[in-house]
Amino acid sequence: MTPNDIPAVEPAPVTVAVTGAAGQISYSLLFRLAAGEVYGPHSRVNLRLLEIPAATDAARGVAMELEDSAFPLLGEVTVTADAETAFDGVDAAFLIGAKPRGKGAQRSDLLADNGAIFGPQGRALAAGAKEGLRVLVVGNPANTNAAIAAAAGSLQPHQITAMTRLDHNRALAQVAAKTGVPVGGLRRMTVWGNHSSTQFPDITELVDADGRGLAEALGGADGRWSTEEFIPKVADRGAEIISVRGSSSAASAASAAVDHMRDWVFGTPVDDWVSVALPSDGSYGVPEGLVCSFPCRSVDGRWQIVQGLELSPAQRSRLDASVAEIAEEWDTVRRLGLV
Ligand code: NAD
Ligand code: LMR
Repeated sequence: MTPNDIPAVEPAPVTVAVTGAAGQISYSLLFRLAAGEVYGPHSRVNLRLLEIPAATDAARGVAMELEDSAFPLLGEVTVTADAETAFDGVDAAFLIGAKPRGKGAQRSDLLADNGAIFGPQGRALAAGAKEGLRVLVVGNPANTNAAIAAAAGSLQPHQITAMTRLDHNRALAQVAAKTGVPVGGLRRMTVWGNHSSTQFPDITELVDADGRGLAEALGGADGRWSTEEFIPKVADRGAEIISVRGSSSAASAASAAVDHMRDWVFGTPVDDWVSVALPSDGSYGVPEGLVCSFPCRSVDGRWQIVQGLELSPAQRSRLDASVAEIAEEWDTVRRLGLV
């Protein structure tokens, strides 16, 4: 099914929690959710906006603007500072509420402050959400925050993900600019590892819409363009945006969150895959439970890691380096007592 197929019966409304509702990313995401861009043109959407007490007035202002937009699909909008109220009975949660980094910082520098948000939220989600819950963690460091929420709330591995779709989209945009193939004609990009500067955007399996491989024309995944231009460009794009824009990516992050959740609900094309950070099941030698980005297909409403890709020694060592960083972040979580 695609978002545009007309169902015989109107689906039940979807209830979606968005944390950090008064923040930059939510200011874009909420309007796209209300416009039907995630759940399609036939699903009513109820929104739960979670904020810290000091920002609930600002969130109420956003709720007023949602009302003024007269979205036909928008149902109830609730503003709250209480996680249990926000997550009660939800189908999905976008966990965005967290501090962004400033110029010169790494995302992992946020762990002590932001990590403390995700344990209580994981527990509140487990207490109130539906079994079919879908969680997307956006707040940084996203992979490790997702692992914290999952561990604290004993969430099922199929319920929790972290966002590397923005990196995936950035990678597609860079290849499109280099090759002239439009982004819509590119398939099978992969971002492996952590949503950090160690991530590994990988063109090895990249094909065009006719299934023709593109890696060779780009000099190969281990070639000069890939290793000296493409990988650093994509991996450092978040920092570049902060330095040029003065604050971290917002509309592009919201757009990636829309792509991620829409594909999770409606599926990915059979000839393609996307990048999703989720708890490893041991695939590609990534220790079980670490939240790592893999090539994934969405089938019957669940993410499946694409199996059987051959990794060269160079690919292996890039993936291993990023996984080692995720493991180090998890050690920090334990040391700080965040779970
Ligand atoms: P922002 O500062 O504009 O908004 C964050 C909001 O979260 C604020 O309104 C704040 O009051 C709220 N908040 C803080 N603690 C909260 C809590 N416990 N519960 C509910 N709300 C809470 O930041 P932003 O630009 O929207 O970015 C949010 C996060 O997303 C940052 O950590 C940023 O680094 C991250 N991010 C991730 C990606 C990605 O690709 N994974 C992309 C962009 C940004
Ligand atoms: C991004 O990739 O744009 C976000 O993770 C924000 C950041 O800190 O880089």
